[in-house]
Amino acid sequence: MLVTAQEMLQKAKAGHYAVGQFNINNLEWTKMILQAAQETKSPVILGVSEGAAKYMTGYKTIVGMVKGMIEDMNITIPVALHLDHGSYDACLKCIEAGFTSVMFDGSHETISENIEKTKRLVKLTKVKGLSLEAEVGAIGGEEDGVIGKGECADADECKMIADLGITMLAAGIGNIHGKYPENWAGLSFTTLDAIQKKTDEMPLVLHGGTGIPAEMIRKAIDLGVAKINVNTECQIVFTEATRTYFEDKRDLEGKGFDPRKVLAPGCDAVKEMVKEKMTLFGSVGKAE
Ligand code: 13P
Repeated sequence: MLVTAQEMLQKAKAGHYAVGQFNINNLEWTKMILQAAQETKSPVILGVSEGAAKYMTGYKTIVGMVKGMIEDMNITIPVALHLDHGSYDACLKCIEAGFTSVMFDGSHETISENIEKTKRLVKLTKVKGLSLEAEVGAIGGEEDGVIGKGECADADECKMIADLGITMLAAGIGNIHGKYPENWAGLSFTTLDAIQKKTDEMPLVLHGGTGIPAEMIRKAIDLGVAKINVNTECQIVFTEATRTYFEDKRDLEGKGFDPRKVLAPGCDAVKEMVKEKMTLFGSVGKAE
């Protein structure tokens, strides 16, 4: 069932668990994530970056693919189709194409520009009944080979954005995209706590879900995180399993050139990893 992220996040907040956002890059991963969610009865959010959308030929293709899969695979659990880190223009395009949820990443703009654009998108998404994620305090990550330190958002700025009427808020708490460096200081729970206290019941989003230790994830959920994004880990497990497949030369002597066979170990690895995350986030069985 294709829905917005609104209700699933409210339920997650009330039930003290988090809904996983898994980023898709192709048909295979989408299928595996949907299977994992259906088999574990977990609500799920399919994340799409602007780059991944370009790779998959565009937003309309993605909407068509996801809608078709939900029908053909008899997916009954709630699924949200969400733009990840979108520009203002990308948000407009996704709303037009039929996404049920968008993230406007105004964290690189001044706070007043971020507020202005978020405000406009609140209006638009409310009219269409869609969910909207906003961001304060850039989430670090690798840029030009340099891994940036995770920023911590200002709680007062978070309140200003949260009060605009958004569905969920991504706020930097020392988290970064991609692999964490060995000297990573960890998540700032003081920042998370301060942000949640200022923003009342606002569902908070934890980006950079790859490689955060389980106990930190659990503590973040306790303190108000209701959505956790995972992207890099899908890529890592898929590529590792695919490499292993190619190392097994015997397979290439048989029917090993069949793309369905070549991609199968990677797909299985993605599905297994998604199920593990859903268990850790506590969303298993919540879509019964
Ligand atoms: P990772 O790539 O670190 O898992 O982060 C995903 C993310 O936050 C997407 O917005």
